[in-house]
Amino acid sequence: MYTFIIFIHVISAVLSIGPFFVLFPLLDRMKGKNKEMLDTALEVFQAAIRLVKHAGHVLVGSGLLLVWQGNWPWTTSWVIMTIVVMVVSIAFLASAFKPKIREFHAGAIDLDTLIKKLRSAVWKYIILLLLMLWFMVAKPNLW
Ligand code: HEM
Repeated sequence: MYTFIIFIHVISAVLSIGPFFVLFPLLDRMKGKNKEMLDTALEVFQAAIRLVKHAGHVLVGSGLLLVWQGNWPWTTSWVIMTIVVMVVSIAFLASAFKPKIREFHAGAIDLDTLIKKLRSAVWKYIILLLLMLWFMVAKPNLW
């Protein structure tokens, strides 16, 4: 059973990170498009964010199960650091994408600014996820 939970955990990690890499070429293609094409691109973008959000829920759920069922105590430094970074990334995911797209639709920012902000948010989120992936795989003794 434990191995199965690790398997689910790793699949959800793949689905939490993978979709973001598709977003870079999508962002490149958003420039100079007519409204209909742009709306489609933004919908694909939001669908990817939704997928990442669902995968993130499974990732946290299976992660907590692994600590509960496994031999790593809750006080393990890399477990604590992953949970801290996870809380930061959830807050970040909630504020970095949808509100920016909403600002664009409301006319508060132009397309170039939107693309720039989304690109920088995607990079920051990837870095946070890779940091957690490193904690998980290397299991460093931080203190
Ligand atoms: C609430 C957050 C999380 C908790 C509590 C958690 C907990 C754990 C635990 C206890 C293990 C060890 C399984 C074992 O070796 O017996 C593990 C493995 C793993 N976790 Fe997480 N995890 C969390 C989030 C994440 C995130 C965000 C990622 C990826 C971005 C991730 C990727 C992995 C991977 C790839 C493994 C397998 C590594 C290995 O066993 O060598 N986890 N997780």
